[in-house]
Amino acid sequence: MANSSSGLQSLPSLNKVLVVGGGGREHALGWALSRCPGIHQVWVSPGNGGVPEPGGEGAHGYTRLGIPETDHEGLLAHCRNEAVDLVVVGPEAPLAAGLADRLRAAGLAVFGPGADGAQLEASKAWAKQLMQDAGIPTAGHWSVRTAEEGLAVLEQVQRPLVVKADGLAAGKGVTVAASIEESATAIKEAFGGRFGSAGERVVLEECLQGPEVSVFALCDGERMVILPPAQDHKRLLEGDQGPNTGGMGAYAPAPLLTETGLSQVRELVLEPTLKALQGKGIDYRGVIYAGLMLTASGPQVIEFNCRFGDPECQTLMPLMGAELAQVLQACALGRLDLAPTLTIRPDCSVCVVAAAAGYPEAPRKGDPISVSLPEASQHQLFHAGTRRDEQGTLVSAGGRVLTMTAQGSDFDQAFASVYQALEQVSFEGMQYRRDIGHQVRRP
Ligand code: AMP
Ligand code: GLY
Repeated sequence: MANSSSGLQSLPSLNKVLVVGGGGREHALGWALSRCPGIHQVWVSPGNGGVPEPGGEGAHGYTRLGIPETDHEGLLAHCRNEAVDLVVVGPEAPLAAGLADRLRAAGLAVFGPGADGAQLEASKAWAKQLMQDAGIPTAGHWSVRTAEEGLAVLEQVQRPLVVKADGLAAGKGVTVAASIEESATAIKEAFGGRFGSAGERVVLEECLQGPEVSVFALCDGERMVILPPAQDHKRLLEGDQGPNTGGMGAYAPAPLLTETGLSQVRELVLEPTLKALQGKGIDYRGVIYAGLMLTASGPQVIEFNCRFGDPECQTLMPLMGAELAQVLQACALGRLDLAPTLTIRPDCSVCVVAAAAGYPEAPRKGDPISVSLPEASQHQLFHAGTRRDEQGTLVSAGGRVLTMTAQGSDFDQAFASVYQALEQVSFEGMQYRRDIGHQVRRP
């Protein structure tokens, strides 16, 4: 149990896991955990159309559970009734809403920070202050509470600034302005209610330049294990054009960050962040996701998230060794020192998101999805916005519908198989980028 774990000599037995969330990330987490030795049952709640229904085909030990992530008491009741050994919370919203706190208070082992730690993502102003206090490299910033205050900063600096809504805005609260006028408009819009309460405070930032990379640290409050860096593609359209999305595809390990670069990120960013959290009395047990920009003067933090990236997680999970479940359990118990070393397959892993027509503004839903992948295929198809209708037909139900992933001994091979597999999937209006990983593919 989480509260009495300091005297443990070894990790307790681990048979039953609950993954909370319904996206591609949670499908991938559930899939990876269900493959770990010793795991007899994984529930994904609320899951999606890709997670087997209880009693359905392929449901042995891996099933969907219909409890929404907002129903904390319902999830707790399930954990008690089924004697769940480990809960892994996928998305930021339930973490920020205190789900991990509620479950931990009831004695459960939970991978995912409490509401205090989730502020790393849920309040950009809070995260910026923490970075500034701890000397973590990040863009210079101003935190403002009114449009007038924001416009006064612009007036003073006389250059375009990046404008960010303080709170959770589903990845849509950021404007990278090309001109002072554009910054000014974004400030007025944010205070005009465009992001609801997420925009009550606004962070203005210096604009940085360089490639972006996502680094994930699995933390037990004190110690951490760092996963291979991944690169996401945030823009909707090929050539990194069009609106920002949650992410249209990813690949790992991103060669942009060498082993030395990754150690630098550990020393300059991740360890000081965990220390700073500890210094505030926050026992952070979960993922620290550092969104970094590799600038001419070194890595700078663009943002922190309190969870795995989506779709980076879908790319990383197939690379994880059989120790994954125990490593997450050890983090949840604050005892990474008791965990076996997490092995990582030395392959290149890639994923491409198939999105609905109209994504991200107004995704079209309810279209039947046809999938005809061969049984023994080396790809993994992780669902996100899908569900089964009354007849059991798989239909689209969200903006990002599916993530296809594949591995290979090099990126060319992995991308060739991922795109080949995507040919076998279709639904009305399906859109995906054909240039994911252009940075690492042969032209
Ligand atoms: P965020 O939601 O904070 O990750 O921001 C979304 C995207 O905006 C990032 O992935 C970057 O591409 C871009 N961005 C955010 N902050 C900055 C910055 N200070 N300078 C340049 N681009 C930024
Ligand atoms: N793929 C970016 C994110 O999860 O925030």
